[in-house]
Amino acid sequence: MQLADLFAERARNARPFEWEPEPEGDIVSLAYGLADPALFPREELIEAAAQAAAANGSRLLNYASPDSMLIDQILAHLQQQGVAAERKQLLLGSGSSELLNVLPLVLVEPGDAVIIEAPTFLGAVNRFKASGAKLLGVPVGPEGMDLDALEAILQTLRADGRRAKFIYAIPTFQNPTGTTMPLANRERLVALAAAYGTLIVEDDAYGELRFRGEHLPPLAALSNDWVLRVSTFSKILAPGLRLGYAHGPLAVIERLAAFKTSGSGGPFLTGMVARYCADGRLDAHIAELRALYARKCDAMIAAIEQEFPKEIRYVKPDGGFFVWCTLPAGMSARALASHALECGAEILPGPSCYADGSGDDSFRLSFSFQPEDRIVEGIRRLGRAIRGMM
Ligand SMILES: Cc1ncc(COP(=O)(O)O)c(C=O)c1O
Repeated sequence: MQLADLFAERARNARPFEWEPEPEGDIVSLAYGLADPALFPREELIEAAAQAAAANGSRLLNYASPDSMLIDQILAHLQQQGVAAERKQLLLGSGSSELLNVLPLVLVEPGDAVIIEAPTFLGAVNRFKASGAKLLGVPVGPEGMDLDALEAILQTLRADGRRAKFIYAIPTFQNPTGTTMPLANRERLVALAAAYGTLIVEDDAYGELRFRGEHLPPLAALSNDWVLRVSTFSKILAPGLRLGYAHGPLAVIERLAAFKTSGSGGPFLTGMVARYCADGRLDAHIAELRALYARKCDAMIAAIEQEFPKEIRYVKPDGGFFVWCTLPAGMSARALASHALECGAEILPGPSCYADGSGDDSFRLSFSFQPEDRIVEGIRRLGRAIRGMM
């Protein structure tokens, strides 16, 4: 008799997520989408915490619902984005990750079809997989998800008498490709979801961080019935706060709330963030972040132009954290990742972004974390590694 025999099937090979150890020595890591700590508003957050404790400490430090001030601020922000969400259609969570993790409990039985982008953010997708979902990948091109390929999958499922439980999409500054879906495609995507009766889960982690081009409405602004949108304070304020939210159809929100582990969403945390955000301060902070990430992105692109052989193709993003690169035929991103480490640079190889482990012809670079001079140095080292392999 083994203890391990007691585990549920989904837990048999499960392991806790562990941060990769920082590479040792002088390595420039361009692998991870970490926010730049240089702009964490430390002093203002301390001040906001003191204000929350002084103004409403006996409620916010007790078991309580989230601070209604923050709920009001989020609803007003959604309205500005063209999303008409009511209070009861909004649910806060410990990062958007918590809400994405709970989602399969509400929607997925083992064997159910879930449509994802290929490549995508595996942090969310691995949880869908653990619930027994059958993942169906749709290629991502320069304009986001390939909607002809998506429609073909939806038709095949329908011919089988099935519906996909949901489509997980990151239409704005996608992780990992940095691509953004144009308006016409957004309209077609929500029309497809409605026609085939499937929910879109719009992950909008980076949507606020546009530093070029015209603002586009989130999918949630285009459909009240078939879009659940998740968003987060991680990229616009600080990921260590662990604060995200979901909004969308009431029936889905109510069920997510029922399965969420912590009922309230952190009364004190929400009280603190609400006081920080008051008087348009968050908007001013986001404007600063956009300018910072624009400079870093430009530094990375200029370095790529200078240091990479012309055979390397890349996508220039209009916002977000990432630049996606594609290698010429015959070159392996995994092999490049190991050789790059020897040359003093770290990248995220494509297979870490594909649920089926494919994508070894591509890799992701992140310009969010490193200072500009380190970005340039990292790309120089990477260029050397690439030329060494070609
Ligand atoms: C697309 C995407 N969604 C969600 C998250 C997680 O965000 P949170 O910190 O809100 O859990 C990330 C973080 O990297 C992300 O890239």
